[in-house]
Amino acid sequence: MSDLAYQKCLSPDCAATYSVDEPLTGCPKCGALLDVTYDWDRLPVPKSLREIEARWGRRNEPLEFSGVWRFRQLLPFAPDNKIVTIGEGQTILQDARSVAAYAGMNPGKLFLQHEGLNPSGSFKDNGMTAAMTHAHMTGAKHAACASTGNTSASLAIYASSTRQFKVIVFVGSGKIAYGKLSQALDYGAHTLQIQGDFDDAMLQVQAVCKESKIYLCNSLNPFRLEGQKAIIFRILESLRWEVPDWIVVPGGNLGNSSSFGKALLELKQLGLIPRLPRLAIINAQGANTLYQLYEEHGLRWNGGRFDQPLIDKFYVELEASGAKADTLATAIQINRPVNLTKALRSLDACDGVVREVTDQEILDAKAQVGAGGFGCEPASAASVAGTKRLRAEGVIAPSDRVVCILTGHQLKDPDATVGYHSGHDPKLQQMLHAHGVHAMPYANAPLGVPNQLDQILKAIRDSGR
Ligand code: F0G
Repeated sequence: MSDLAYQKCLSPDCAATYSVDEPLTGCPKCGALLDVTYDWDRLPVPKSLREIEARWGRRNEPLEFSGVWRFRQLLPFAPDNKIVTIGEGQTILQDARSVAAYAGMNPGKLFLQHEGLNPSGSFKDNGMTAAMTHAHMTGAKHAACASTGNTSASLAIYASSTRQFKVIVFVGSGKIAYGKLSQALDYGAHTLQIQGDFDDAMLQVQAVCKESKIYLCNSLNPFRLEGQKAIIFRILESLRWEVPDWIVVPGGNLGNSSSFGKALLELKQLGLIPRLPRLAIINAQGANTLYQLYEEHGLRWNGGRFDQPLIDKFYVELEASGAKADTLATAIQINRPVNLTKALRSLDACDGVVREVTDQEILDAKAQVGAGGFGCEPASAASVAGTKRLRAEGVIAPSDRVVCILTGHQLKDPDATVGYHSGHDPKLQQMLHAHGVHAMPYANAPLGVPNQLDQILKAIRDSGR
């Protein structure tokens, strides 16, 4: 397997290659990010994406049941007997008509890809199954990650379900939604709450993994991003293998956007799709590094020779200002996205755009997603809020076919939801106000009623619902 799949440095001036047997999170020679690369000419690639559909008929076999590994010919780095799966990737693409109307799209043109339906409630399981598989290939027994909550929940569920790994998760103190923290604790992960934010935790976990030879499961790990390619494969499958016009995704650490671009470029290279969709990455305004660099400073991929001094200067100024990422969409509360440069490649390949949205826009969009479908956590709703913005700007046409990625389950962050809808809890109200969320136009407040039948019946009648 090893000479058919290898790791390759992203920098065109270095382009060093390494075996897939090495657990690396950056090029040892130059420090750039790594890709998992394949010798497609010598691999049995499917002739059409439809070919893969037949595998679903064998869903009593764990590898065919997995919404990641039934596409394993498109991420062929692992022998079948090393694959670690817990049945991830049973997700749904929903034609969300009321959300389409909210975003200004024509009926039947806006789709929601509900990645919150994964076992740990977020898209992370797509990547974690691949990282765990690679960890297993390398013989690792200890794994770790830094997290705003979902990566830790995902790593923890793989550890508890498979009993193959001991895991440590690093989270920022007070920076994690309780739904997510509760998962890491319940699944039995060794949980370290660092006095700092995600960016601090990310730096520490890298140092710890290097020092202690622990397997790192953040999206710096190129194998994790291989698994996340399956989100694109499943979207295409649900659209009967037709390429949408737009994929809209929240941007945090920029793992998804990096992985999606790679998936699409590979599919095109293999002749499995005729064209690439456009990509929109949506930052929260309080954590908008990519937006600033890409839209305001004009940073571009430039064939891999991007303007590193511009990035360095941005971070020096950020550090000097003492500014910390701050958004109610805590999942994407990240100022130093580790996959920044890979995301530039995706934006380049997919004629991409980046937008920022406020927490008000995010929570309004979230309420619309909840009322019109399965719901999502705040960060996920950035994709719908971003679509609405791009529609208003005329960048997205009402007749375009748009897929918004809903990255996490609605139950991940009940505080944000209850705070928005109920208006009763002063602590939650304060949290919303501190983030500029003052109007709740789509609130569905609970009605207090006395414990008396006639009063209850009257309240129902009076509500007119
Ligand atoms: N949406 C959700 C729900 C997330 O949990 C994350 C990232 C993102 C979007 C951003 O994804 O990195 O692909 O841009 N959460 C990480 C974590 C950082 O630790 O759980 P990205």
